[in-house]
Amino acid sequence: MALVTTTKMFEKAFAGGYAIGAFNINNMEIIQAVVEAAQKQNSAVILQVSKSALTYAHPKYLRAMVEAAVAETGLDIALHLDHGPDLETCKLCIENGFTSVMFDGSHYDYEENIVKTKEVVDYAHAHGVVVEAELGKLAGIEDDVQVDAANATFTDPDQALDFVQRTGVDSLAIAIGTSHGAYKFKGEAKLDFDRLESITSKLEAAGIHNYPIVLHGASAVDQNCVAMCNEFGGEIAGAKGIPTEMLRKASSMAVCKINMDTDIRLAMTAAIRKSFAEKPAAFDPRGYLGDARKMIADMIESKITDVIGSTDSMK
Ligand code: G3H
Ligand code: 13P
Ligand code: ZN
Repeated sequence: MALVTTTKMFEKAFAGGYAIGAFNINNMEIIQAVVEAAQKQNSAVILQVSKSALTYAHPKYLRAMVEAAVAETGLDIALHLDHGPDLETCKLCIENGFTSVMFDGSHYDYEENIVKTKEVVDYAHAHGVVVEAELGKLAGIEDDVQVDAANATFTDPDQALDFVQRTGVDSLAIAIGTSHGAYKFKGEAKLDFDRLESITSKLEAAGIHNYPIVLHGASAVDQNCVAMCNEFGGEIAGAKGIPTEMLRKASSMAVCKINMDTDIRLAMTAAIRKSFAEKPAAFDPRGYLGDARKMIADMIESKITDVIGSTDSMK
């Protein structure tokens, strides 16, 4: 039993009209919650680590915990670098057993993004690791890179085809209206599904079939969870995510990987706030962290069954 790349997962997801959940991990409780939910639903899963998570938890600790999860569950699990800023960070992750890396060159100009992405692709492929890249700019915060709504640019379908052909990248993150964090829309939620369709059509017409597209910034920001945070002392106002029917639609199209981090943060915070408020005399971290783990696991299980549809993807 070993970590796997995303290649087979995406082939199956594309053919089956569902997506694989990519969940950001920062500690043991989050890892256990994600794999417990995935195991209950017999689902493959991607555990992803940002640069700041690498700094917080250390690649060796994260890898050891993820390998324990593979040994314990027997699930297909990919360990992925989220928003890798440079070749050096991608190399560090590859040396530490990651099976997939993202190089995020979306803030560079187009030609520079191609050159830098190709460099990562060549290195990663020589080491049996797959690569995700990003084209177009999402509004919000990606690690240290902040993009405001005015500077967000949706992915151009012709460029997407050219980018995939020239870099040989294995999957592509696109900008169609999602953004990172808990404040995604001021007004009504809207995603540019025509653009997604057009990207896939261009790739298909060029002979690139069933190409996996990645959706970042795809947390739903469940309003019950926000309300629970606020009921127990939180001050989260105006948070809004991607409606679940839009995530379902994206999963049924070419989107094979759906990224979620904010929903985990909110679930964890809500559970811990509630636990602190209801049991003020308790101070065993296993109590409130256990509550948080349960809340995250339940949330992720419902994503798998009701939103992305990856139940039984291990079959
Ligand atoms: O896309 C960003 C992810 O939510 C990771 O955030 O850099 O704070 O770990 P982070
Ligand atoms: P959310 O902030 O919507 O959870 O997006 C996370 C993400 O895209 C990580 O790369
Ligand atoms: Zn992201």
